[in-house]
Formats: sequence, structure tokens, C-alpha cells
Amino acid sequence: MSRHLISTKDFSTQEILKLFDRAESFLLEEPQQTLKGKRLINIFFENSTRTRSSFEIAAKRLGANVINLDVDASSTKKGETLFDTAANLDAMGPSVIVVRHKHSGVPQILSNFVRCSIVNGGDGAHSHPTQALLDLFTIRRHFKKVEGLRVAIVGDIKNSRVAGSNIELLTRFGMKITLVAPPHFLPKTDLECTNSLREAAVNADVIMSLRTQTERHNKPSYAGLKDYASDFCITKELLGANTILLHPGPVHRNIDIDDAALADERCKVLQQVENGVAIRMAVLEMLVQNGGKS
Ligand code: NCD
Repeated sequence: MSRHLISTKDFSTQEILKLFDRAESFLLEEPQQTLKGKRLINIFFENSTRTRSSFEIAAKRLGANVINLDVDASSTKKGETLFDTAANLDAMGPSVIVVRHKHSGVPQILSNFVRCSIVNGGDGAHSHPTQALLDLFTIRRHFKKVEGLRVAIVGDIKNSRVAGSNIELLTRFGMKITLVAPPHFLPKTDLECTNSLREAAVNADVIMSLRTQTERHNKPSYAGLKDYASDFCITKELLGANTILLHPGPVHRNIDIDDAALADERCKVLQQVENGVAIRMAVLEMLVQNGGKS
């Protein structure tokens, strides 16, 4: 039986710590070709810059072959169900299929139709496990110890799969999360919530800014993104001396984060991207080797 990564809950805390050690080694040394002869297929039904290329680079650095399915030119466009497409691709013998889809739950369902490992590259507003893993890894590399750190998650939290995965993972590792958003961007939650960015920023060790997920809104929820920005844009003045700033990308520049804050050394957005390749290498290796047993 192959093992899948659908949500952060699929990995135990112990496994995640092991994964981080492995990712750390990938940042320091040239990796061995531990996935030589293996195949990874990327199927992205939603746009992606970072995640798809990050999985591709990660797999290739370990010696695997990568096939990027061109969804617009694929047979799902001719009426083949997603599940038949997946079963057919699986018959070509990949070790891993990475899937991104606008509907929550698709990677989970697909995992019932294939023999290979399914990795969730983001499903609707549900989950984006490798993003949360790389975020935690980035925080941990910076602060060394994460327990007790205060994290302000800012933006369209209700519609963000990145927020969903981070809330599970960062809470599990003992961090204290405050959600910072206007009421219509807040999920139902027991976490501390505020609509005062200034208040939350003063206390935060980590500020995690999120993009407004306009593609998931049924109706415009703010008069305009400029209005949203006047309340929730992260500016350099909001960053404490030891605070770090994260964002999964794509950044709405001067809406989510202003130019000066993006250029500041406390902003770790590009480190997140760099760390993301190492994390995905560790994830792929763990899923493919030993049938996912760590
Ligand atoms: C995010 C996504 O697609 O969920 N981006 C990413 O994968 N790095 C966040 C977003 O689209 O806002």
C-alpha cells in the first residue's frame, strides 16, 4: 500500500522532525540520486508558479523523471472523469502523482483509484500540506525553538488552504496563533481573533500574510483590494525588531505586503521558496522509499 500526503495530519510529529533533518541535509550537501528511475507526475488543475516547479526541481534533484500533465490538452477536457485520468496515469507506473484542484477533497478521493502515492499540491480551501511544512521549517530554522512563538495569520483565512494547514501544524508544535482579518474572512474558530493588525503585530514573532482568494469569493467582499490594503497591508513599520514575515506567494504587492517590507531582511518569502524545494525532496523520498515508512 502506498502512503499519501493529503493533509499535515498524515505525518506524525516524530516523522516531521525526521523530515526536517533530512531537508536540512539537502540544503547543506549535494543529494544522492535516491529516486533514480522513479517517476513523478504533476497534475495541476489550478494555476501554480512555485508549487509545481518546486516539486519538479525536488524530484529531479533526487534523480527522478518528471512528467507535467498539460491539463488543458488532456482528456479530462474531452469528458474523461478525473478518476479515469488518474487511474490511466497510474497505470504508467509513477511513484507519485502530485495533484492540485479547485475542489476540496479531490486528492483524497483520487488516492482510492491509484496504487502510487498521492501528494496534495493544494485542494480548494482545504489543505496545502507541503506549504505548511515548509513554513514551519522556515520558522524553525530561524528561531531554532518554535514552542511558545506567537504567530499572526493575516488575511483571507477562511478561504485559504495555506491557513488551514498551518493552523493544524503550528498549533501542534506549540505555537500561539492569532487570526487577523475582517469578520467575513474569519473561519469559525476557537483561536484568538482580531481585526486590529497593529495590535496583533506588536505581539507577533511571526507574521504570515495571505493573498485575498478572490477566485473563491461568490461576491466581492471588499469595495476593492485597495480598501482591504488600508487595514491589512503589512508595512515595514509594523515589523518588530525580531519579527519575521512570511507569505506563501503569489504576493499582491502593496496590498498584502508593501514594497519596503518585502525588501526588508525580516521578510523570508524567498527563503520559504528555497526551503520548499528541500522539504519536498524530503517528502518525496519518505513516501517513495520503504513505502512511506519512516
Ligand atoms: C498558495 C496556494 O495556491 O494555495 N500558493 C502556493 O501554493 N504557494 C496561496 C495562494 O494562492 O494564495
